[in-house]
Amino acid sequence: MTMKWSGWALTAGALALSAAAHAAPPTAAMLSNACAGCHGTNGGSAGPTMPSLASQSKTAIIDAMKKFKSGERPSTVMGRLAKGYTDKDFEAMGEFFSGQKFHPTQQPVDKAKVAKGADLQEANCSRCHLDDGKDGKDDTPVMASQWLSYLQMQMELYQSGKRKMPEKMAEKVKPLSKEDLDALLHFYASVK
Ligand code: HEC
Ligand code: HEC
Repeated sequence: MTMKWSGWALTAGALALSAAAHAAPPTAAMLSNACAGCHGTNGGSAGPTMPSLASQSKTAIIDAMKKFKSGERPSTVMGRLAKGYTDKDFEAMGEFFSGQKFHPTQQPVDKAKVAKGADLQEANCSRCHLDDGKDGKDDTPVMASQWLSYLQMQMELYQSGKRKMPEKMAEKVKPLSKEDLDALLHFYASVK
């Protein structure tokens, strides 16, 4: 009887241990490795179709991952990828990348467009895209220094209705011409 009891206790203990090991959340750095090929080791984008994640707000990253996973936000690769992770993983990813330093990029931009875009940003977008788009708060992504072609692709998705614009952002975007929007994106891409 005693033997049986201790045998049971041992097994239960072993089970509890392996369950704990299984449920242990992956470390943030480990998760970041799965993202580094495209978003850079420390969240700095590796190429013009991909955004930098460094210094994005935790909420913005978690929000984006959930929308990719559910399919609400259209994507080339992120939807498929996000399906492999849980909300807990998204938290860890958000925690990790929000703690990385802002990633400035060097890219060719049109100076006249940048100047025009700076005025337009101040008047139309600065309420949410704070500090010339460098500061991402709450669910608002960092715009500064993102690659121009990434920003243009996202704006096209918004304009075509495939990606849902926040209502208050749509109010500001709708009255602007294609040229205005292009100037705005040149401005954001130029900010260091
Ligand atoms: C194969 C390349 C690739 C890998 C790997 C990858 N991403 Fe992405 N990521 C992209 C691309 C491209 C986009 C733009 C959306 C799209 O088209 O899928 C993006 C967009 C994002 C965005 C939206 C950012 C914004 O400013 O709106 C987040 C957040 C993100 N990725 C997080 C991650 C995380 C976390 C990982 C690791 C688990 C990861 N990505 C791995 C290519 C990649
Ligand atoms: C009321 C707040 C608000 C205003 C005003 C606003 N935005 Fe946004 N913007 C957001 C939020 C929130 C997101 C992320 C939303 C989402 O998940 O699609 C976003 C996302 C974007 C993105 C996609 C970035 C990425 O990494 O995915 C672009 C491009 C953009 N905004 C451009 C603009 C421009 C240009 C203006 C001014 C004409 C503007 N926004 C005004 C709140 C705003």
